[in-house]
Amino acid sequence: MLGNSTQAWGSISKLLHWLIVALLLTQYTLGWIGAGLPIGMEKLVVLSRHKSFGILILALAVLRVTWRLLNPTPALPAHMPALQQRLARATHVVLYGCLFALPLSGWVMSSARNFSVSFFNLFQLPDLVGPGDTLYVFSRSVHVGLTWILLAAALLHVAAALKHHFIDRDMVLRRMLPFIRS
Ligand code: HEM
Ligand code: HEM
Repeated sequence: MLGNSTQAWGSISKLLHWLIVALLLTQYTLGWIGAGLPIGMEKLVVLSRHKSFGILILALAVLRVTWRLLNPTPALPAHMPALQQRLARATHVVLYGCLFALPLSGWVMSSARNFSVSFFNLFQLPDLVGPGDTLYVFSRSVHVGLTWILLAAALLHVAAALKHHFIDRDMVLRRMLPFIRS
C-alpha cells in the first residue's frame, strides 16, 4: 500500500520518515565534526557535504508535508488521554517545523557569511540574503539553538514510541515500522 489509510501508514510515508531519520543522523555527525575543525580545506569539504544533505532534507520535508496533506492520517489510539494526544500533535509540529527551519537557517547563515550553497556540486543554489555580520551571527545562533530543540523533541518522540510499544502495547510503533503490515 503506497498511500496512508485512517488506520495505517503507507510505504511512501514510512520511507520518508526513516530516510529523514537516517539523513538527520548523518547531518548531526557532519555538523558537529565540521564545527569542531580548524579553518581549512577539510572543514570546507565536511561543511559542504553538510549543506548538501541539509538541502536534501529540506526537499524531502516539502515532499513529506505535501504527501501528508494529500493523504488520510492514521488516527491516534482511542485509549490515549486528550492531553497526551495534544502533546503528540505538538511534538510532531515541532519536528516538522525543525525540518524546515534548520535547513533554512543554515542556508541564511551561509549566504550571510558570503559562502555559496551547492547541492552535491551538481548545481549552486541562489543566496537567500546578502552578506552581513549581524545576520550571520543571529542565524548561526538560531541554527545551533534549533539543533538542540530538534534533539529534545526527537528524544521525547522516541520515548513516546517506546512507551506505546512496551507499556501501552498498542500498534503505534509497529505501524510506522517498514516491512510490517498493520
Ligand atoms: C535538518 C538539517 C540540518 C541539521 C540537523 C543541521 C545540524 C547542524 C549541527 C548539529 C551543527 C553543529 C552545530 C554546533 O556547532 O554545535 C551544524 C552546523 C552548521 N550548519 Fe547545519 N544542519 C542542517 C542543515 C544545514 C544547511 C541546509 C546548511 C547550509 C546550507 C547548514 C549549515 C551549517 C553550517 C555552515 C554550520 C557550521 C557553523 C559553524 O560552526 O560556524 N546546515 N548544523
Ligand atoms: C529525529 C528523528 C525523527 C523525526 C524528525 C520524526 C518525525 C516524525 C513525525 C513528524 C511524525 C508524525 C507523522 C504525522 O503525524 O504526520 C512521526 C511519526 C512517528 N514516528 Fe518519528 N521521527 C523521528 C524518529 C523516530 C524514531 C527513532 C522512532 C522509533 C523509535 C519514531 C517513531 C515514530 C512513530 C511510531 C510514528 C507514528 C505515530 C503515529 O502513528 O501516530 N520516530 N515521526
